[in-house]
Parts: sequence; C-alpha cells; structure tokens
Amino acid sequence: MASEKPLVAVTCTAPVNIAVIKYWGKRDEDLVLPINSSLSVTLHQDQLKTTTTAAISKDFTEDRIWLNGREEDVGQPRLQACLREIRRLARKRRSAGEEDPLPLSLSYKVHIASVNNFPTAAGLASSAAGYACLAYALAQVYGVESDLSEVARRGSGSACRSLYGGFVEWQMGERADGKDSIARQVAPESHWPELRVLILVVSAEKKPMGSTAGMQTSVETSPLLRFRAESVVPARMAEMTRCVWERDFQGFGQLTMKDSNQFHATCLDTFPPISYLSDTSRRIVHLVHRFNAHHGQTKVAYTFDAGPNAVVFTLDDTVPEFVAAVRHCFPPESNGDKFLKGLPVRPAPLSDELRAALDVDPTPGGVKYIIATQVGPGPQTLDDPHAHLLGPDGLPKPAA
Ligand code: PMV
Repeated sequence: MASEKPLVAVTCTAPVNIAVIKYWGKRDEDLVLPINSSLSVTLHQDQLKTTTTAAISKDFTEDRIWLNGREEDVGQPRLQACLREIRRLARKRRSAGEEDPLPLSLSYKVHIASVNNFPTAAGLASSAAGYACLAYALAQVYGVESDLSEVARRGSGSACRSLYGGFVEWQMGERADGKDSIARQVAPESHWPELRVLILVVSAEKKPMGSTAGMQTSVETSPLLRFRAESVVPARMAEMTRCVWERDFQGFGQLTMKDSNQFHATCLDTFPPISYLSDTSRRIVHLVHRFNAHHGQTKVAYTFDAGPNAVVFTLDDTVPEFVAAVRHCFPPESNGDKFLKGLPVRPAPLSDELRAALDVDPTPGGVKYIIATQVGPGPQTLDDPHAHLLGPDGLPKPAA
C-alpha cells in the first residue's frame, strides 16, 4: 500500500574535511561569509562519512529529519536556511525554463535521514560532512544543478569544502551577497597518493565552546584575528596552494602547524579567552616537534580544530614509526587491540635513539585511539535503492 506512494528518494554520502588554513570568523552572520579564505584536505569516506537520504512525496505533511536514528527539530535555523536556499535555487531553475528531471512539485515536503559511520561522541567534527551531504542530497531530489557552496555554507561554513574531494579552497569572495564566496577544488584526491592522515582521538574533558559562538566572540574582541585575516592568510593561501601542487611536504607540514597554532593563538586573544587544546593536545605538539627534530626534517605535522583531537599529516613511509612513537607516549589503557582503526599500519619497533629523543613520561590513555586514513573523493550518490535510510513509507528503516 505504502509503496504506491509517489515518493522520490536519493541517497548520498559526503566526506569530512580538515582545514590546513583555518576559517575562523564571519563578516556576515546570516549569509555565513568568512573574513578569510581557507584551504582543506578532504578525508576518505571509507573511514569517515555521512550518509543522507532525502525523499519528497505529495503525501508528506511536514518537513522532518532524523539524525543517527533520532528525530530532530526541523525548525533549527541552519537547517531551515539550507531548505529555503535549495528550494529557491530549484524555483529559479524552473522559472528559467530548464527541464525538471524529477517532475514533483516544489511545494512537496521533504523527509531527511542522516547517519555517520563514526561515533559522534568521539568529538570529530561531523557538521561539515553532514551539511555537505544534506545539500548534495537535496539538490538531487529537487533537481538543482548549480553550485552548492551557498546551500552547504548556510548549514556550517566549513561544509562547503566537503563538496569536493582532494584539496579544496573556500574563496572568501568580495561581494556583499556572497555569490563569489565559493568552494573550489585545488587538486584532486589522486594528486598526492603518499599523503596520510592520522586522527588522534583524545579524551575530551569538557564540551568545548561551539565554533559559531566562539568565532563570533573572536571577531568582536581579537585584534590578532583581524591582523591574521587581513595580513597573514592571503599569502598563506598562495603558499599552501604551491605546497600542494608541488607535493612539498616540508612546506605543507610547517605551514599547517603554523596556521593551526595561529588559530589557537587568536582563540587565546579572544576575550574572554577560548581554549580548545588540552594537556594531551600540547603533549602531541611536543611529540611531533621532537620526532621532526630527531629526523632533522618535517616528517609529521599536526593541526587542531575547535577541540582537543589532533589530526596529523605524514607520508606513508613514516606512519609505522610515528604510530610506534604515539604508542610509546600514550600507552593504550585497555583496548590495545582497538587502538588503531582504519587503514592497516605495519607494526614497527621504536628505536632506542628515537625513544631517547622523545624524552617523555608516558601518559597512559591520553590518546584513546587513532584513525588512519588518507585523502579522499567528494560526495557520491548511491544508486542501490537498498542504501536508502528511509523506507517506502518515508520513515527511517529500522537499521537507520
Ligand atoms: O564550519 P564551522 O562553523 O564548524 O567552523 C569550522 C572552524 C574550524 O574547524 C575550527 C576551522 C575550519 O576551517 O574548518
């Protein structure tokens, strides 16, 4: 009976991205326009992804959304902004006389279900993948083919960078209406095959201040943030783009660390100050610098977002030794066999020289686990109807 309903459903997946030149601060809160451009690496969806099904039907009486199986308030302003924006683009397309691939009325309500393949409790930023996936799925279900930066950005600024794979810049743009504030691919995911990403999940002691409130206070109070946006980031964007194009790990790694450090410095310059790093984060910073000093070159580089977890970039041949160094500094407490998730890592011994160079008192359990991953592609559409998170009745399937 339910299957006779004229329901159109699309299921997509989208990746997490991690910024190496950070976005922090809006010049327009409503349109989500940043005070500086930013550049990120898209992480592989085999390890971290959001899956979203969007369905429209004439039988739906209201817009509804389920996140990780639980119904959420569809009235949240960011979600509403995304829905409004996608419907505006769809109307624009239709009034321009373009053929509508899905001949369903724009007034139809939408049901959305979304799940992450990683635990939200790990404190990994899921909003970028979530809103990119939402924008991508809604665009297909409403037949929108234009640039989706604006739709994703309305949900979460950094989400527009998750619309592409590989290395992605979000150009801040100059226009007041934000039409030129868009994400663009700098290089595809195949560009730097040796690049690896290790996410060091650190036990969160407290819930950090959200990025929206945090960056607003920074814009209002931090002179360092203004200096950074106007006088530091433009040259760094050009330099980071060069490092990516030339696969210059030394330059890439050093600039990544410097930019993360400057972002956290602007947080401390905010009044009242914001501090996202924990003691364990700072121990990881020291470990990375000692590891690099031991080798006489930048072999690993950290970056931290609005939380204590570290994201470490390195090349494939360095992964086993660096993981051994992390194990030495942060001995796993109980789940030794589950310490490493994601891509397989060959076990490697820690040399006496490196052990001496690290010169640390180990902190058991400081790092809960490591997710090993790599650069990955942008959003995908899943053709298999079994992948839908919503059933023919438009409600979440039991597994979702
Ligand atoms: O997109 P938002 O509002 O969650 O802000 C993201 C801010 C950082 O993650 C700290 C930096 C970035 O560019 O992703």
